[in-house]
Amino acid sequence: MYIQDSLHEFYPGRQSYAVSLSTLFHRCSYLGPTIRVKNGDLVEFSIANLRSEPVTNHWHGMHIPGAIDGGPHQMIQPGETWRFRMAVNQEAATNWYHDHTCEKTAEQVYFGHAGMFIIEDDNSEMLGLPNTYGVNDIPLILQDKLFDSAWEQQYYIEAGPVFWGDYIIANGTFNPYCRVAPGLIRFRVLNAGNNRQFGLHFRDGREFYVIAGDGGFLNNPVLVNKATVYPGERMEMVVDFSGDRGAVLDLLAETITANPADGLVDMQVMRILVNAGYPLFARVPSVLRREPIDWESAVANAPAASRSFRMSANEDSTEMYINDQAYDMHVVNESVPIGVPEVWEVSATGDHPFHVHGCSFLILDIDGKPPEMELRGWKDTVVLPLPDGNTNGRFFKAHILVEFNHPTYRYPDIESEAAVFNRDLDYHIPYMYHCHRLEHEDKGMMGQFTVYHETQ
Ligand code: C2O
Ligand code: CU
Repeated sequence: MYIQDSLHEFYPGRQSYAVSLSTLFHRCSYLGPTIRVKNGDLVEFSIANLRSEPVTNHWHGMHIPGAIDGGPHQMIQPGETWRFRMAVNQEAATNWYHDHTCEKTAEQVYFGHAGMFIIEDDNSEMLGLPNTYGVNDIPLILQDKLFDSAWEQQYYIEAGPVFWGDYIIANGTFNPYCRVAPGLIRFRVLNAGNNRQFGLHFRDGREFYVIAGDGGFLNNPVLVNKATVYPGERMEMVVDFSGDRGAVLDLLAETITANPADGLVDMQVMRILVNAGYPLFARVPSVLRREPIDWESAVANAPAASRSFRMSANEDSTEMYINDQAYDMHVVNESVPIGVPEVWEVSATGDHPFHVHGCSFLILDIDGKPPEMELRGWKDTVVLPLPDGNTNGRFFKAHILVEFNHPTYRYPDIESEAAVFNRDLDYHIPYMYHCHRLEHEDKGMMGQFTVYHETQ
């Protein structure tokens, strides 16, 4: 792939500066190509930076060694090419990639340095779910945007201080529509926005299934009429349009505005025209996983919390902290043993989506309550949701069960191909944990950790 400055039409006929990633075969003017791999694949990457500033390319949700995680330490200087092989060793999921440059992530992701990374596996291919890319398996990369009168995208931060866009765009398109067949349609939703959450729902209030979260399938589909993704989160939904031939439907997002007094407002995401092609006659399988996640026993057997991460900010929110420390590239804040399940306590006085690199975890509780059914699958981001945004200074807590136990981390004693390839990598390059509101991350609400093996 190459990363470059480009011109993109967010609005037909009007060109705007943008950042994009392309391959020799897929030229993108904004964002990057969707990468689709299968569990077990060994993928060779070569990523050239054709821009005039340093970038990094982080693989959000991937269980890969720190040395290829693409965090702030793996800069790709202008003119440089980053080459490596990635052994994919995890279940089917909708992941993504994006820039992670120190203090510049928000801006770089905003202008377009992001893309989707889909993993399939034997299970996902056997489920009979819609999986024809762009036809009945549709990526929805959601962001909010600010445009000037010439439809040039603008980035600046105001109240918060965070970014607030006036419009939601999907896959780089303002006010998009999508033609689908009157059957089952799967949407892979990614919140690649800087700051807002998107509470997706249809104008007609119809129900749909949530089938997967950040790190893979739920045990069973969950029927809802609204599902919310915070920055960094993914959610797969399946909607049944079989009775809707000829219908025009609107997908909306409930979100916040820069003025807390507004409360929650609805914004248009996409119009759906149910009139194209042949439907997939299928049903949503009632069991989505061969190996169910035993959430109840994870909760029952969880050890006591052994690390805590408290997110906070200074008075005017110009500096932000985890455990009272702003991010420092030269400080490794935590070191975590491989193969030992740990409970991490995450707390905050505001609503912050807390993301951990290099793993998937289970959410045990949020503010003392069990998470909603659609949050009981593998996650890499946990949100402390405060509907009215006002905590009166009270700290809200969540507990997550984290374990770094993937074959790629256990290289000394596992003879998989993945282990062999990852053996030579430097295991001491740290992973990040941080708030995924990108301005918060850039202002210091981030820390780093290494993962170590007992025999090292
Ligand atoms: Cu989406 Cu630190 O990343
Ligand atoms: Cu935050």
